[in-house]
Amino acid sequence: MSVVSSVCVTVPATTANLGPGFDCIGAALTLYNELKFTHQEINQNQKLAINVTGTEAAKVSTDESNLVYQAFIKFFQHIQQTPPSIKIDIKLGVPLARGLGSSATAIVGGLIGANVLAGEILTTAQIMELAIKIEGHPDNVVPALLGGCRLAATSDIGWEICDIPWNSEVVPVVAIPDFELSTSEARQVLPAQVSRGDAIFNTAHLGLLLRGLETGNQDWLRAALQDKLHQPYRKKLINNYDVINTAALSAGAYGMVISGAGPTLLALTNTANSQAVAIAMVSEWESKEVKAQVRTLQIDNQGARSVVQG
Ligand code: HSE
Repeated sequence: MSVVSSVCVTVPATTANLGPGFDCIGAALTLYNELKFTHQEINQNQKLAINVTGTEAAKVSTDESNLVYQAFIKFFQHIQQTPPSIKIDIKLGVPLARGLGSSATAIVGGLIGANVLAGEILTTAQIMELAIKIEGHPDNVVPALLGGCRLAATSDIGWEICDIPWNSEVVPVVAIPDFELSTSEARQVLPAQVSRGDAIFNTAHLGLLLRGLETGNQDWLRAALQDKLHQPYRKKLINNYDVINTAALSAGAYGMVISGAGPTLLALTNTANSQAVAIAMVSEWESKEVKAQVRTLQIDNQGARSVVQG
């Protein structure tokens, strides 16, 4: 074990799928969770203390079932070492169960915190493989770890990760309702099989999206954000999806999609229209008596970072 006794890890929120890229593309956003790990004997019988702050702190478990701690433990199982006693301070900035990758921040944060305390035994690529295994799909954990917009594809030996250039004129706006939607519930409504036509539709639109994001080409972006693999099934879980979509498009969005598994809705627009799009989305939701917050964000290009504190 190294001499590091405390490390603070900052992990960005993520938006996965971006419409046609179900389970394979995601982007890191400028919204963060902060996790501080302090290696200490709490008392003889207690190996863990967790303290959570932030508006949704009361919803986060502070026992061994905590996802940050679960990832921390899985790291030490992976390297076949006994985990140290640990105090974890969690400062929540990413809303929970809203489709903004809060679970990915916990998994990536737990693994990085453990790796730093263990003396950086694993490489970033190994942390990434472990994070994908824990989460079950790559599209949140990869951008949370590496930053930017990332496409993940399997290869014969693991994963190929590709960074997708994101034109700075393409602005993400997220409208976050105050209700939650669990990823497992949102995955259960998806069909096990899809038609060849739908597969071709998504293949073409994902290709168009990648070029649209890179160039900022407005016509390509307007067409590219459509999807036939998950959104048609999921939008019924998000009341008012269609009216909010219409409001966002009327205010100048290129398109609107479900962020991750939802219920947050993501619009892509340009700088000139971003404020109007934000106001239109939140007003529409509030007119239907759903409390929502809206954020105009940027792409975080750095990904998870850690600062050793002692
Ligand atoms: N790709 C995943 C899904 C992201 O849409 O279910 C949610 O974690």
